[in-house]
Amino acid sequence: MADVAEFRPGLAGVPAAKSAVCLIDGQVGKLQYRGYPIQQLAEKCCFEETVHMLLFGALPNAEELAAFKAELAAERSLKFRIIDVLKHLPESGHPMDVLTAATSALSMFYPGDHVEDLAFRRISAIRLVAKLPTVVAAWYRIRRGDEPIAPRADLGHAANFLYMLEGEDPHPLTAEVVDVALTLHAEHSMNASTFTARVTGSTLADPYTVVTSAIGSLSGRLHGGANERVLAMLSTIEDHSPQAVRRWAEDRLARKEKIMGFGHRVYKVKDPRADVLQGLATKLFAEFGATPVYDLAVELEKQMAELVGHKGIYPNVDFYSGIVYQKLGIPSDLYTPVFAIARVSGWLAHLLEQLENNRIFRPTQIWVGEADREV
Ligand code: COA
Repeated sequence: MADVAEFRPGLAGVPAAKSAVCLIDGQVGKLQYRGYPIQQLAEKCCFEETVHMLLFGALPNAEELAAFKAELAAERSLKFRIIDVLKHLPESGHPMDVLTAATSALSMFYPGDHVEDLAFRRISAIRLVAKLPTVVAAWYRIRRGDEPIAPRADLGHAANFLYMLEGEDPHPLTAEVVDVALTLHAEHSMNASTFTARVTGSTLADPYTVVTSAIGSLSGRLHGGANERVLAMLSTIEDHSPQAVRRWAEDRLARKEKIMGFGHRVYKVKDPRADVLQGLATKLFAEFGATPVYDLAVELEKQMAELVGHKGIYPNVDFYSGIVYQKLGIPSDLYTPVFAIARVSGWLAHLLEQLENNRIFRPTQIWVGEADREV
């Protein structure tokens, strides 16, 4: 009989690809995109620079950045029929489902001969990064009965997204915070949605279909959907005193209920992105006033460290992102779509890498059923 491979639920610890896109060392909280530490990218680069580096392997010089920004800006608008598609969806539809539907529709509006055509690959990647924010902003307005706002080419990626929500030039700090939040969420190695993108991509499906499948994967509450649930969870804690917060956490842990925004398959220390987000939150509060829920989150982090820190359960990126987005006035059901408009760049970087040396994914299984039965 052939060797039976060891079964690892969730493929934990099983390499699914050789990759040069993102390096994580979960034991020490290291996160680097193509070798650049996330803290430096957050501080020194705009989101477009990071996207260029993720997709094409190198940080752009000033001229390349200007050209790349122009390419993205030229692809921001949506064809009126895509707006029509959005207008026919139920206004109660979750924005992640809307994003899945619209991205899937893009493959019909922009069909390509073959994903092996390098020009088609490149323009599809640019279109996807450019158009996803427009879909999210358009849906935000359409569902409340307003017309979508056309994108502006003179604004950066983050500022334009904020502009398309309400039609006002965003405060510079708000645009900066969203820009950094997008950079922090752009890539994270072989997480569930990226693995989904690589699997779909390995069949030579078109990039729009690849991203559609990845968005579906991101929508689950154990992945991108967690950030939306963190604030809902925090809102159930009425008494913010340390004793009450500890009791709340102990009760929940005793019931074996997951505490949203904590824990990570890879990080066994605090997620470095959570630290950067806390820095952003502090800047926002200094400019626009404090939010009580932030103090509650810090208290819960402290209590959780005492209760489950020994198990390597610490805040992940989702714990503070919702608090930042809430302060910016972004509705909670847009938190995961905002994650998606950042992560699309990572999915595409992995797709391009997968296609460089493609072999279709086809894992095996361990048979646990009965065999050779008679009907
Ligand atoms: N709250 C309480 N306990 C947690 C926990 C959390 N958020 N995350 C993990 N644990 C505990 C589990 O109960 C389990 O304990 P046990 O060994 O006593 O049974 C142990 O830690 C391992 O958990 P497991 O779910 O097997 O880890 P995983 O690597 O498969 O899952 C996550 C990782 C992210 C899915 C998981 O931590 C989680 O569900 N977190 C909450 C959702 C979230 O914030 N997701 C966003 C991720 S960026």
